[in-house]
Amino acid sequence: MSTTFTLDTSTSRANPTPAPMKRLTVPAIQRRKVEGKTAEPLVMLTAYTARQAQLLDPHCDMLLVGDSLGQVIYGLPSTLPVTLDMMIAHGAAVVRGSYHSVVLVDMPFGSYEASPAQAFASASRVMAETGCAAVKLEGGQAMVETISFLTRRGIPVMAHVGLTPQAVNALGGYGARGKSLEEHARIMDDARAVANAGAFALVLEGVMEDLAVEITNGIDIPVIGIGASAHCDGQVLVAEDMLGMFERTPRFVKRYENIAETISGAAERYAADVRSRSFPTEDQVYRPKK
Ligand code: KIV
Repeated sequence: MSTTFTLDTSTSRANPTPAPMKRLTVPAIQRRKVEGKTAEPLVMLTAYTARQAQLLDPHCDMLLVGDSLGQVIYGLPSTLPVTLDMMIAHGAAVVRGSYHSVVLVDMPFGSYEASPAQAFASASRVMAETGCAAVKLEGGQAMVETISFLTRRGIPVMAHVGLTPQAVNALGGYGARGKSLEEHARIMDDARAVANAGAFALVLEGVMEDLAVEITNGIDIPVIGIGASAHCDGQVLVAEDMLGMFERTPRFVKRYENIAETISGAAERYAADVRSRSFPTEDQVYRPKK
């Protein structure tokens, strides 16, 4: 079997960026939180393709190959149908396209929940076949045994609590969590439990801000917020959301671009050129040299 994470660019548009920086490591990320504080917040974005990774990588500390690719890339209704093979293919592409950020790959629904042994079998495939540095999995107290099993066997784990999209059917939707005192306490306990189990960091998604602040101050590992609080140790967004790829974005997204408009405008101009025979011009056709 060939390794999937060597970059051969001789025939590819994905030309390598020279590697001016050493790749960050999981321990280096974890060390950014000192005595409960992270001086410079950690920057994380999702990436699903090699070219996207090349563009985002120099600006980020971590690139997450999120299972959100189910909706963003494949047009699926949720993350539930995403498979391990899909995550591995995209994970390998993102590793190939990056040289600086820690690359993390999401464990898809059904690939880790049954037992620590099932999680190890899936996670070890992800690590071996992509070259990524860590995996992320959803769940709090229920995942303690699994997180401890993986980390003690050399697989760094980022946990994900609060709004956990793989549990959308149990949660009843994608609304913010931690509104009731009971749920607030449960999510706080989840965060403490995964930190104690050995997770090196935690994604905290879609929670009330007071809870995000309490968790960030209350555990020693970096807390990466999405729909949480500016007080978190870092932030993550789905890259396509912040780039403006979709008309509808959740409340917690800040749009930095409007690439949907750029792409559709370019396609409109191209279509007009083709229909009027203004493309290709003599610059784009092959003719015998004079
Ligand atoms: O799948 C994903 O993109 C994620 C982020 C939203 C944190 O889990």
